[in-house]
Amino acid sequence: MGYRAIMVGTDGSETAVLAVGAATRLAKRFGAVVHIVCAHGGPVEEQTAIEVLRYAREAVRGEGAETKTHMRAGAPAEVMKELAALHGVDLIVVGNVGMGKARRFKLGGIAEEVAHEAPCDVLIIHTRDLDAAPNGGYRHILVGTDGSATASEAARKGFELAEILGADVTLVHVGDPLVGAVVLEDTAKSRPGAAAVRSETLEGDPAGRIVEVAGRGDIDLVVVGNKGLAGTRRYLLGSIPARVAHESPVDVLIAKTVGRTVDDLAPGHGGLVDVGGRRVAVYKAEDGTLTALSPRCQHMGCTVDWNDADRTWDCPCHGSRYDRDGRVFQGPAKKDLDPAELP
Ligand code: FES
Repeated sequence: MGYRAIMVGTDGSETAVLAVGAATRLAKRFGAVVHIVCAHGGPVEEQTAIEVLRYAREAVRGEGAETKTHMRAGAPAEVMKELAALHGVDLIVVGNVGMGKARRFKLGGIAEEVAHEAPCDVLIIHTRDLDAAPNGGYRHILVGTDGSATASEAARKGFELAEILGADVTLVHVGDPLVGAVVLEDTAKSRPGAAAVRSETLEGDPAGRIVEVAGRGDIDLVVVGNKGLAGTRRYLLGSIPARVAHESPVDVLIAKTVGRTVDDLAPGHGGLVDVGGRRVAVYKAEDGTLTALSPRCQHMGCTVDWNDADRTWDCPCHGSRYDRDGRVFQGPAKKDLDPAELP
């Protein structure tokens, strides 16, 4: 959840201006760099792209966030996915206008393509009145869960974001009310941080119910996992994020819940990796030696993330920091990270 590089695509449209605003606000909160991307060669001409980027860069800098701009010829979604991988981007922000429809700039098509294929989390900004937009300053976050590993991972991100932004969380389960009561209690009990949480069990069409709750007026962000579920649990997230992203009346964060593996780490770098369905914080030394740690911060259980600049494990929630061997050197945490096993 500790976003360090946030990418936002822009073509100068109103929806893109909102996306840039949200990316900037989140970047300031996380101390992240905003990578602004404008693809040209299609509806956006090269000269227009130069102007659009200059305007966006000034807007981001004017808010006090660090930014880098990128201009490339090509299809916007392709350009963004390529640059995201190249710059180690962990969040892409896009506007939702025209999603699934042919519009002049096809930004909606871009949002959809990016949402399905991005190598990282994707925040889809619902286009609305500029003055009424939360602009990344979310106060009320909805998380849909069925208790599966994917949904739990999305819930964890939702709770961590709530902790960082000072938001509350509405946990929603759609399905059998008895199962839902157990799932929601477990999810709330094991949450990182101390965000206020309320739970709702609903019956009916899962995506439809989630969209309904999101539209009640007291929610400004929906968090869903990016992986469809298999088997008997398919009912909840099988059509999510696609349907929620299409139909939500508020912004949607699609949390990437399928992690990297140890093999994806370059020597001299660390990162959270997926080991048999568990998240492990792993540092890979230049000689390939691995140091594996539990990523659970010893303060209130948020997830630490690798800080490549300082080669440390940092917690985004309240600022605890650990060296690459997991020794705490900055509180409020008082204990070192627990060691973890690798197979
Ligand atoms: S949970 Fe508070 S600093 Fe990590």
